[in-house]
Amino acid sequence: MRILALESSCDETALTILNAQADSLVLEKDQVYSQVDIHQQFGGVVPEVAARQHAETIIPLLSANIKSEEKVDYLAVTTGPGLITSLLLGVTAAKTLAYAKNTPLVTVNHMEGHIYSNWLSNDELVKNANKYFPSLVLIVSGGHTELVLMKGHGDYQLLGSTVDDAVGEAFDKVAKLLDLGYPGGPIVSQRANDGDCSIYDLPRPMINSGDYNFSFSGLKTAVLYTLERKKKINTEDVDNVCASFQNAVVDILVNKTMKAAQEFGVKSIMLAGGVAANNQLKESLQQEARIKDLPFFFPELKYSGDNAAMISVAAYYNILNKKNIISGKDLLSVAPQSNWQLFKK
Ligand code: KG4
Ligand code: ZN
Repeated sequence: MRILALESSCDETALTILNAQADSLVLEKDQVYSQVDIHQQFGGVVPEVAARQHAETIIPLLSANIKSEEKVDYLAVTTGPGLITSLLLGVTAAKTLAYAKNTPLVTVNHMEGHIYSNWLSNDELVKNANKYFPSLVLIVSGGHTELVLMKGHGDYQLLGSTVDDAVGEAFDKVAKLLDLGYPGGPIVSQRANDGDCSIYDLPRPMINSGDYNFSFSGLKTAVLYTLERKKKINTEDVDNVCASFQNAVVDILVNKTMKAAQEFGVKSIMLAGGVAANNQLKESLQQEARIKDLPFFFPELKYSGDNAAMISVAAYYNILNKKNIISGKDLLSVAPQSNWQLFKK
C-alpha cells in the first residue's frame, strides 16, 4: 500500500511517500522544509508568516516529488491540532489532489502522528506492536504535554495533561528569558550540558498532585525570579540555570510517567513529540524503564520534530482500522480542526 502524506500544522512543510507492508514500512520519499530560520528573527512562530511560507512551498514540494501520472493508494494529511492558517494550506492541497486523482484521503491527528513516529524508528513495533500494548505514551511538544494510555492501534485514554504551558513552550520561554534565541529546547539542553543542576533549587510544580496533570508556568516564573535576584549573569550562570531548569522538568515528567506505568500495569513506555529530542529526558526514562524491566521506545532525532513520515504511518494504521477515510463528494467538506482533541479521559 502506498500513501502520500502532507504535514503543515505549524512551521514545517513536509511530504512523504510511504510503502507499507504487513511487517515493513519503507519511506520512498521523505522531505521536510523547515521555516525555523525565518521565525528565528521574530523569536517564535508568526502564524501569518508560516501560512505564507506553506503557500509558497507546498506546490514546489509536490511537483519535485511526485510525477503527474504517479499512482498512490491513499493520500493523507494532518487536519489538526495546529495553527489554523498553516493547516489550511496542507488540507487544501491534499483534498484537491484527492479529488482530482479520485483517491481516498485519510485525515490524521498531528498528536497521533507523533506517537507513530516510534514505529519509524523501532522495527519491533512494526512487527509485534501487540506485545507492547497497553503502552504508556508521554507526548511532549511545543503545544502539548500529555500522558496517554495506548491500549491498541487508535485506542487511547488520556490520563493527564498540562494545566498551563506545554513543556516545549516552557523551554522556549526560559530561552527567551536568557536571551538564547528560538527554538529554545535545543539551545537550553545544550547549555545544560555544561551546567551544574544543583546550583539553583527550582520547584517541581504538581509533582505530588496525586493525578497525572502537569504545570510548567510556575517553573518558568521561578527562573525569572532567580534571574531578577542575580542582576548580573555570566555564561556559567546561564549554563547552571539551564541545567537546573532541565533537571526540574525531567524530574517531573519521569516521576509522573513511572507512577502511571505502575498504576496501569503497562507493557512498554513510549516518548513522542519535539521534546523527545532531549537527551536527559530520554536517558532518565530509559534508566527508570530498565529498573522496572519495561521496554522503552523513542523516535530518532529526525522523526521527533514535525515531519510527514509520522503522519503517513498514523494514516496506515487508521486505514487498517477503516478510520478517517474520506472519498468522493465528502472530500469537499474536509476542513482543518485546529483544536482536534483525539485523546479522551
Ligand atoms: O513537536 P514539535 O516539533 O512541534 C510541535 O508540534 O509543537 O515540538 C517543538 C518543541 C519546541 O518547543 C522546541 O523547543 C522543543 O520541541 N524541543 C526541545 C528539544 N528540541 C526541540 N525541548 C527540549 N530539548 C530539546 N533537545
Ligand atoms: Zn508536533
